[in-house]
Amino acid sequence: MSHMPRLPESWLFLGRSKELNERPQLREICGKKFLTFRDLDGTLFVTSAHCPHMGAGLVSGEVISRACSRNLRTQIVCPFHKWEFDAQEGHCTRIPYAEQSPPPAWAKLTRFPVAERGGLAFFFNGPQALFPLPFFNDEDPNDFVSIREAQVHQDAPWYLVPANAFDLAHFANVHGRTPESRPRYEQYERHARVIIDYRITGETWADRAIRRFKGDRAQLDFTVWGGNFCLAVSSFGEPGPHQVKNRMLITLEPLTERSSLTRIFVHSPRPKNAWSSLSERIKMEFRRWLSQQFFLAEARETSNFHFSPRRMIDEDWPNRPYLLWLQSLYSAESHLVTPKLPPIHESPTSARPMEI
Ligand code: FES
Ligand SMILES: [Fe+2]
Repeated sequence: MSHMPRLPESWLFLGRSKELNERPQLREICGKKFLTFRDLDGTLFVTSAHCPHMGAGLVSGEVISRACSRNLRTQIVCPFHKWEFDAQEGHCTRIPYAEQSPPPAWAKLTRFPVAERGGLAFFFNGPQALFPLPFFNDEDPNDFVSIREAQVHQDAPWYLVPANAFDLAHFANVHGRTPESRPRYEQYERHARVIIDYRITGETWADRAIRRFKGDRAQLDFTVWGGNFCLAVSSFGEPGPHQVKNRMLITLEPLTERSSLTRIFVHSPRPKNAWSSLSERIKMEFRRWLSQQFFLAEARETSNFHFSPRRMIDEDWPNRPYLLWLQSLYSAESHLVTPKLPPIHESPTSARPMEI
């Protein structure tokens, strides 16, 4: 696909909150390096990884607090010539061997927006977050817990895996899920959504087990933000107390231009007591395994995919409008080359579908 950037301008997984501390750490994504550290109050920062002076690696720099007009400000100090940068604003505040004149205006680190939720940390690849860190539609993040993620490596670019959720015609062949009717498709400014009702027609033992206990009717409600940050809810069984829902927060991260890493964070409503906590944990581990199997099947098919959306037909629906929408997100006219556009704030509840 033309125009697609190496890294999406979207939220990317940074790491687990408990593993991020005052010691500067590097996070490298598809050749682009980011620096992350906390200040003494625990505020998490993500900045550019190299010093704007002569390019030294800030990972071996020091995080200090310095009094600045009666406030304590966090500074990151470059290990090479000891220039100091304000963590909050990014600009250079002190050049120890040239204190008689103010630091040059170009001496500035880029700071990336950060969000922490439920023990997971994410950052936005861009100077401003174009949308808040997404969550499942109409749900409060405080009501949910997640477990360690499943990971699947794909020999396919980062945008292909979420795009396949809109590719109806492959569901039966690759996943043993046969769509029942034309799915609902919605596209918004920064996210798109598809809701697919399907029958479980696969013959794996897990498919047989689901059919036996929950019947063959199921639904996938899939939302993707920025082309890489997905929220998927699979529902099995009739709506009501016995319906089982598998809620997956899925992030795609490019490894190279042609390969990517899928992380699947299974979420569940916060358990009410220790006993339900234990039983829910076991169910979540099982759902984690099931979700991983789904994406492994996907990875088998997409490995060595020479992806070309140019020869799609109208019946390739709704992946054709989805891919057009995705391309327009990252087209030459978008914010990627015109950074002066104001940030767009939208939430799934306030946004309205666009005409397609
Ligand atoms: S390279 Fe960082 S202060 Fe000179
Ligand atoms: Fe798929």
